[in-house]
Amino acid sequence: MKNSSIRYACPPPVNISRRNWPSKTLTRSPAWCAVDLRDGNQALPNPMTPVQKKRFFQLLVELGFKEIEVGFPSASADDFQFCRDLIEQKLIPDDVTISVLTQAREHLIRRTLESLHGVRRAIVHVYTATSELHMNYVFGKTAAETEQMALAAIAMVRDGRKELAGSEILLEFSPEEFTDSELDFTVGLCDRVIETWQPRRGEKVILNLPATVERRMPNQYADMIEEFIRRQKHRKQSLISLHAHNDMGCAVAATELALLAGADRVEGTLFGHGERCGNVDLVTLCMNLQYLGVDTGIRFADIEKIRDELVELTSMPVHPRHPYAGELVFTAFSGSHQDAIHKGLSRAEELAERFGGWKIPYLHIDPRDIGRSFEKFIRINSQSGKGGIAHVLQQEFGIRLPRQLLIDFSQHVQRHTDKVQREVDAKELLSLLLESYVLQDGPVKLLKYWPRPDAEDPTKIHGEVHLEFHGQHRTLNGTAPGPIAAFVRAVKQLDLPFNFALEEYEEDAIGQTDDAEAITFVRLAATVAGVRKSVYGIGFGVNIDQAAVRAVVSGLNALLL
Ligand code: KIV
Ligand code: ZN
Repeated sequence: MKNSSIRYACPPPVNISRRNWPSKTLTRSPAWCAVDLRDGNQALPNPMTPVQKKRFFQLLVELGFKEIEVGFPSASADDFQFCRDLIEQKLIPDDVTISVLTQAREHLIRRTLESLHGVRRAIVHVYTATSELHMNYVFGKTAAETEQMALAAIAMVRDGRKELAGSEILLEFSPEEFTDSELDFTVGLCDRVIETWQPRRGEKVILNLPATVERRMPNQYADMIEEFIRRQKHRKQSLISLHAHNDMGCAVAATELALLAGADRVEGTLFGHGERCGNVDLVTLCMNLQYLGVDTGIRFADIEKIRDELVELTSMPVHPRHPYAGELVFTAFSGSHQDAIHKGLSRAEELAERFGGWKIPYLHIDPRDIGRSFEKFIRINSQSGKGGIAHVLQQEFGIRLPRQLLIDFSQHVQRHTDKVQREVDAKELLSLLLESYVLQDGPVKLLKYWPRPDAEDPTKIHGEVHLEFHGQHRTLNGTAPGPIAAFVRAVKQLDLPFNFALEEYEEDAIGQTDDAEAITFVRLAATVAGVRKSVYGIGFGVNIDQAAVRAVVSGLNALLL
């Protein structure tokens, strides 16, 4: 490995006179063809059973795919039978066209056409490798021999389709290893494929131009597509199709740029299953286009359900950070991200108006658009901050903590997550909050509280408190302008080892209906054994008064414990 520039024979860039694609934008959806049941399935460690393939087919139909490559019928008895089952059991909706792959060889074409008897509409997809590497070194053929074989195969399908009376048979041709082939050769060959096929009026031949192995950067794929279209003779009778594999990890980018270059159609698989690093991932690609405002016709309304079902069908996991579908892609662990998301979501409408569409810090799309919920957005671990904690408590339980209390609570959370060395879920977070601030069962135990307005002077409240103090039943009375102050006055008559002050008080409702529960937050301060202490207490109740006195009891117990 002396000089890395000569270690690999990367294909040279194609000479292109003009380059229009960089200044284009994506505004229209390509036609989609899902090749999961052929290219995807052939690369699974455990190929799908016929039952699984049927379910997969239905799923693709449900998602909105109108073209589905269902197999390689001449290559295996299973694929042949699967195709027969779909046709004979009438499982193909009227608006869906199946496609079957075949090599350009006579006996294989014959068998392929046989598999299509009775079909309403189907695409016969013929492929032949056109790179020098393949033609010469794999098949031992010259370019001329390859062309002759390909054209003979096209003529055979053309003539053979006459025997499929009542079926509409369309043609797809792929020069395999297109991106590693001489452009002049593939353009000329594809022109002659169309001439041999002799399309009927209005009929288009699908010219599928694959990056069989990804050997180039995405801009070069786009260049090749733009130049192919420029040079071809029969643009109007062709549909330019993309089929990118992902060896360099750029299949989505390559396809997007090649669409800018003028392609009409895309082949790929859900979650990118396929040989080696897979095919272009249609989930990411479709969702990227949706994000750009292009209606793809494909609906991932419940992406998690689709993901889980596909994992089951293919036995292939989906990476937790897979765009759109991965378990963690709408989750923020870091405190600053959580805080920004929380702030953004709290002002979502205002932001949408300002930016002319949904836009939230650190979130690419609104997860609800693909059936994902807010609940898993923000996960709490030792990296998390106040924003995340606030968000989870608010979203999950409707609890909005006052700022100072939130700061105090985040220290409890930090200590806890450091101790347990893992993330905590929403329930655990709530338990931690209750354990830390809702202390009803300590030295002070409230039994009842009756606040009553004075019969003569309504600005005076008499509070009657029944409680246990260190296990002793006590009845205490206090009078003040408000029920909470009356309660505080009453409990100050206990033999407490400190004098306390109620320094902060905030109330809120959990929920927005008439029967919303009240929640109250207090901060009590006292000098206990010569040390100044400031503690928070939380109380819940059917009304504000009951919630408030419970919050004071929580605070007192915190001072006493
Ligand atoms: O990747 C490829 O080139 C293919 C062809 C058969 C279209 O799958
Ligand atoms: Zn492929």
